[in-house]
This record gives sequence, C-alpha cells and structure tokens, in this order.
Amino acid sequence: MKVDFTLNGKKRFIDLPPHATLLDIIRNDFDLLSVHPGCKRGYCGACTVLLDNHLAASCMIPLFHLKGRTIETVEHVLDLPGFRDIELGFLRTGFHPCKFCAGIKVLTAEAILREWEHPKTQDMRSYITRNWCTCTAPTPFFEAVQFASEYRERRGHAARH
Ligand code: FES
Ligand code: FES
Repeated sequence: MKVDFTLNGKKRFIDLPPHATLLDIIRNDFDLLSVHPGCKRGYCGACTVLLDNHLAASCMIPLFHLKGRTIETVEHVLDLPGFRDIELGFLRTGFHPCKFCAGIKVLTAEAILREWEHPKTQDMRSYITRNWCTCTAPTPFFEAVQFASEYRERRGHAARH
C-alpha cells in the first residue's frame, strides 16, 4: 500500500503492507529511535508521537490510517523554537523526568500547549494517563507546563513587537 504523510516537517511516501504500524515505520524506515517499543498494545505510552497535534500511541496506528496525516516525534519538537518554553518550565519547577520518558513528557507538554493557551490542572489530567509513570508526581509536571505556557505567551508577545 502506498501512503504519503508528513513526518517531522517533511513530506514522505512509503510503500508497505497496510497493517505495518507507525511505530515500526518510524523506527525501521526513518531511524527515529526516540520512539520506544513497549507493550505494543496501546497501554504504556512508550511509543508516543504527535499525530495531527494530538498524542497518539504509534504501535496502534496502521499505515492505512496515515494518509495525509502529520506526525511529529520528539526529535522534531526539540528543534522548534517552542521547545525552549518547555525547557524553561521544567527548569523553573525542577521537574526532571527520567531518561526513558523525557521525550514523552516533552511531547505531552507540547500537545497540551498546542491545545490550551493557559492550561488548568483539570485540562491536563487526561494527558498524563497515556504514559505509565509512577516515579514523578503529576503536580510538578502540571506546574512546569503552566510556567511553559507563560514563557510561550511572552515569546509570542515579544515576536509581535
Ligand atoms: S508500545 Fe506501549 S502503548 Fe505503544
Ligand atoms: S519519570 Fe520517567 S517513567 Fe517516570
């Protein structure tokens, strides 16, 4: 099956069996190794990507769902100017995710900030259930994202003047 989509800002075209998963395509065909295989059943969140700006478990997405979609991995988000907002938010609250999930936390923060200009705690709760993490409490992450939203607003404001 031939499918075209946008991956990390570039138009891509691929010809694979229709049930090839986005997780395998990303890792095997595009060498983007930040996306980890975990449960491969949609539970653990290790394989999280942004799909049309929303968090998605790439292990559950077959090729035939990718036509015309936009996929981003953390490699791309780290290169966007908006990553600095997230970095500053994490630093300001001392929020330090482990190496394994740091990319997922960045993608989660980015997904929240794209959806909500001033995210409230209740807006963010559903986002963190996608990644199994029992080693950090949710509150510091929520505070970090709220600071990141302030940095993002200031940066947007500065860019307009
Ligand atoms: S590998 Fe666990 S949700 Fe995809
Ligand atoms: S901080 Fe990484 S899994 Fe919890």
